[in-house]
Amino acid sequence: MTDATVRLGTPLTSTATRAMLLGAGELGKEVAIELTRLGVEVIAVDRYDGAPAMHVAHRSHVVDMLDPVALRAVIVEERPHLVIPEIEAIATEVLLDVEAEGLARVVPTARATRLTMDREGIRRLAAEELGLPTSPYEFVESRADLIAAVERLGLPCVVKPVMSSSGKGQSVIKAPGDVDAAWAYAIEGGRGGGERVIVEGFVQFDYEITLLTVRHSGGTTFLAPVGHVQVDGDYRESWQPQRMTDEALAQAQRIAGSVTESLGGWGVFGVELFVRGDEVLFSEVSPRPHDTGLVTLVSQDLSEFALHARAVLGIPVGEQPLRAPSASCAVLAEGSGVPVFTGVDKALAVAGADLRLFGKPRVDGRRRVAVTVAQGEDAAHARLRARAAAAALKVELVEG
Ligand SMILES: Nc1ncnc2c1ncn2[C@@H]1O[C@H](COP(=O)(O)OP(=O)(O)OP(=O)(O)O)[C@@H](O)[C@H]1O
Ligand SMILES: [Mg+2]
Repeated sequence: MTDATVRLGTPLTSTATRAMLLGAGELGKEVAIELTRLGVEVIAVDRYDGAPAMHVAHRSHVVDMLDPVALRAVIVEERPHLVIPEIEAIATEVLLDVEAEGLARVVPTARATRLTMDREGIRRLAAEELGLPTSPYEFVESRADLIAAVERLGLPCVVKPVMSSSGKGQSVIKAPGDVDAAWAYAIEGGRGGGERVIVEGFVQFDYEITLLTVRHSGGTTFLAPVGHVQVDGDYRESWQPQRMTDEALAQAQRIAGSVTESLGGWGVFGVELFVRGDEVLFSEVSPRPHDTGLVTLVSQDLSEFALHARAVLGIPVGEQPLRAPSASCAVLAEGSGVPVFTGVDKALAVAGADLRLFGKPRVDGRRRVAVTVAQGEDAAHARLRARAAAAALKVELVEG
């Protein structure tokens, strides 16, 4: 045992504890707020100006984080103590160097960011090295190999680019005739992984959860399971707690404990799991706060963002009992323009409800621009309230 004391300086002085967020979206914004509450100097980085976390950071930079030279340059210029990735699309080889050279601490570890940036690294670690149960899967690199893999796995199956998030490029093959469209969609939706895709057997789960797992200097803490629904691979509603059997919860914690221990470091992880009866399958993991965990903004005394901030600074966190069953509902805008919200008063008049307007500078296509959260008597009641608040909130896209 060491008698370590967590020491934090004062922002904008030579004593400052500096944290650089790689990715400055709505989740990073909450992390930035929590870090600034502890007097951390926050530097937000994203590939576009005006990103949500930039609004609350001390400084910001617009950098293509997939460009290794540019990424290294901003780290060398700012010399942060902590590098906190918020997204997957990062030149993670730079983070491996930065960590190895002792230039900064990478959250949770450089290796974790490397392994989770594509589906192959994390799936092979979980299924093949750690022996955790997952859907059956194969990686393929051509249409012909996809056809052969589909024959082996059976229908239906799910096709995803190895590098993508929020359901981009993901589709379900229900009949042999769907193969061509699934292949084309995956290639188009991938983020620079070449033509490599994963094909997974479709899991007929009863429900899916995110098990938020905090690794911190005092050990590992599991939050109450978050249930959620996804539409087109993107989260729409989440609630906490998801009711589970004791056996399923024990399995979920065992899987989450195993994969997060292997990835190592300190911070919040969102472990995505499929549950069928008492059987639990590992799906994927984010080594950072998870969008479905936005529900923790009202469900607990310390949200996943506050817990991430504490954990990465070396502060131990205790058990996190629920304040009340709670839910969140994503608010999407579709079209082009700058979001303007009306009905904020009506949304907030819903009993037990709160909300966050992210401040995204513009929408082109379909984007999440806000979230409502609510407490309730039970998870179903909380969902009704979060949905009612979301329905009351109107988003217009205007020419800014
Ligand atoms: N093998 C599968 N069987 C059944 N459903 C699946 C399978 N794989 C994915 N899904 C569904 O699609 C959703 C998104 O899949 P996944 O998490 O792999 O993609 P993603 O693009 O990383 O999404 P996100 O970035 O939003 O987490 C899952 O939460 C689940 O609802
Ligand atoms: Mg996912």
